[in-house]
Amino acid sequence: MTEIRVLTDEAQYRAHSTLFRRAMHGGPPTDEQWSVTLPSYEPDRALAAFDSVEMIGTTQSYGSSLVVPGGARVPHGAVSRVGVRADYTRRGVLTALMREQLSSLPDPVATLRASEGRIYGRFGYGLAGRVRDLEVDTRRAVIPGGMTGRVRMLDQDTADKLLPELHEAIGLRRPGQISRWPGWWARQRDRRTEAENSVTVVHSGPDGDDGFLTYKVSPEKDFQHRLSIEDFEWATDDAWRDLWIYVTRLDLVDHVETEVPLDDASGWLFEDPRVVHTKDVFDEIWLRLVDVPRMLSARTYGAVEPVVIEVHDDLLPANSGSYRVSADGAERVEEQPDLTIPVDLLGAVYLGDTTFSQLAATKRIEGTRLADADALFAVAQKPICGTFF
Ligand SMILES: CC(C)(COP(=O)(O)OP(=O)(O)OC[C@H]1O[C@@H](n2cnc3c(N)ncnc32)[C@H](O)[C@@H]1OP(=O)(O)O)[C@@H](O)C(=O)NCCC(=O)NCCS
Repeated sequence: MTEIRVLTDEAQYRAHSTLFRRAMHGGPPTDEQWSVTLPSYEPDRALAAFDSVEMIGTTQSYGSSLVVPGGARVPHGAVSRVGVRADYTRRGVLTALMREQLSSLPDPVATLRASEGRIYGRFGYGLAGRVRDLEVDTRRAVIPGGMTGRVRMLDQDTADKLLPELHEAIGLRRPGQISRWPGWWARQRDRRTEAENSVTVVHSGPDGDDGFLTYKVSPEKDFQHRLSIEDFEWATDDAWRDLWIYVTRLDLVDHVETEVPLDDASGWLFEDPRVVHTKDVFDEIWLRLVDVPRMLSARTYGAVEPVVIEVHDDLLPANSGSYRVSADGAERVEEQPDLTIPVDLLGAVYLGDTTFSQLAATKRIEGTRLADADALFAVAQKPICGTFF
């Protein structure tokens, strides 16, 4: 019989990490890798499934905060290291892990990255944010005008010290962004060291440091090179533009690639908008509303007539019920609903990536007042997380 336990010591954490890596077809962590991984284990947040004494499945969360529409930051569980031992799959092990994790999570919302699109909907996670994979042809890219600030390159040690502070100082700008935890930065430092040619530059404007960018350059055929942006944060439009000027004017770089939100404006930077290509659009944020009343009250809404939304949540039934949503907020009501939605799809509309009308058109939900519901949940900026975990 499957039993779910909270892990408490380093030996268990290492077994947890090994099981997850094997589920993803990797090997166990080396001692060096383990020293980097250990800080990412936080008390009470690593769960494992056991068959008697054998560990057969894993999940974990990192404590963080999430920006919701309107700008509030809400405590957030970043769920990761989900895996089931290959000889135990399709016997309900993940179902048991998810049930326990969601019912004991201290945070009102969880997000994760999904290895496959069909796994998490049944556990109430909805596809809440997609990103565009952008490529810029730098041989033809011209950004008119010069830089307004200064870009300087950091050595690895300085970057390790400066980036966590700078990230926090820059702040979180868009719905979907999350704060980063110490274990995330430890892993990031390791990635930069592994890559060897990883470069970090910082931008300063009139008020000091206000943006940074981490990238690496890889050779392509015919002596061409591709620059991949790995981390890009900025506080001002000028910092954003100057850092784009920096990467597109580098010697021996033919292409720049990066991930941007669906409504990214970088095409407007260039004299010729055709230098920017969308290579792909893919799902980034899968979001689970763990405490629906709290999360509905946490975000802001457009100024239209209230809409009554009935929510269904089989896994966390306390969330099921009707909520009247208006520009003044959200409250639980005993009223005839205008529309009905399962909790995973409420997660999908929550950050503004998709709309009630799109879900109704595709027969995923039913109801009336769809245009008003869309206007209530409309966002000024499309969501992006930008922090891989
Ligand atoms: C994905 C994974 C964790 C699922 O674990 P599991 O214990 O087999 O899942 P369960 O048995 O609880 O499955 C619950 C349901 O989800 C379905 N399901 C699970 N994984 C699925 C998948 N990859 N694709 C489609 N359906 C899936 C099952 O068929 C089952 O459906 P049913 O209730 O209608 O029979 C496991 O297959 C795994 O470790 N995969 C490799 C690592 C990985 O991708 N991890 C996720 C990282 S984000």
